[in-house]
Amino acid sequence: HGDFSQKIDYVFKIVLIGDSAVGKSQLLARFSRNEFSLDSKATIGVEFQTKTLVIDHKNVKAQIWDTAGQERYRAVTSAYYRGAVGAMLVYDISKRQSFDHIARWLEELRGHADNNIVIMLIGNKSDLDSQREVSTEDAKEFAEREGLFFMETSALEATNVEPAFLTILTEIY
Ligand code: GTP
Ligand code: MG
Repeated sequence: HGDFSQKIDYVFKIVLIGDSAVGKSQLLARFSRNEFSLDSKATIGVEFQTKTLVIDHKNVKAQIWDTAGQERYRAVTSAYYRGAVGAMLVYDISKRQSFDHIARWLEELRGHADNNIVIMLIGNKSDLDSQREVSTEDAKEFAEREGLFFMETSALEATNVEPAFLTILTEIY
């Protein structure tokens, strides 16, 4: 007997990108399983998780792909971006270098992904405000200039993680 509540109306592929250790895998763990680990291992290759949400009375399945920030562990680039309708470009607010590299990640993303992909810039680790190296204003300005959505999150404290994924999914929808 059928369970009508399980009918999926849409499947949306979202990719996570950004330097190693910015917290991509922990953002995904927080969103998909409400889990967090401080001794998270660097991702090797590619992993993904799904989560089904209701948006506008439709069942939307988010299929979120996560790859390594480290070049030597990365998945095949073209396959990773294929079919993605959303992307989260993640840096760590306490590591200036991870923000300085965002332009490069954006270039790779624009070179491989669909033209109308929805992109969100994410400043993760907002709980580390006392070690902040990237101001909210700098990031906002960059996001506006590049036409990206922007939010600061903390996977550790579960701040803004669900709103960030919901914003991107709603924009795709
Ligand atoms: P790669 O897989 O190598 O690309 O790294 P990643 O971006 O997936 O980073 P990961 O999620 O593995 O997190 C790296 C480290 O940062 C781990 O020690 C996490 O526990 C920690 N971390 C992740 N998110 C947060 C956060 O919001 N706040 C704090 N304080 N630490 C975090
Ligand atoms: Mg990872």
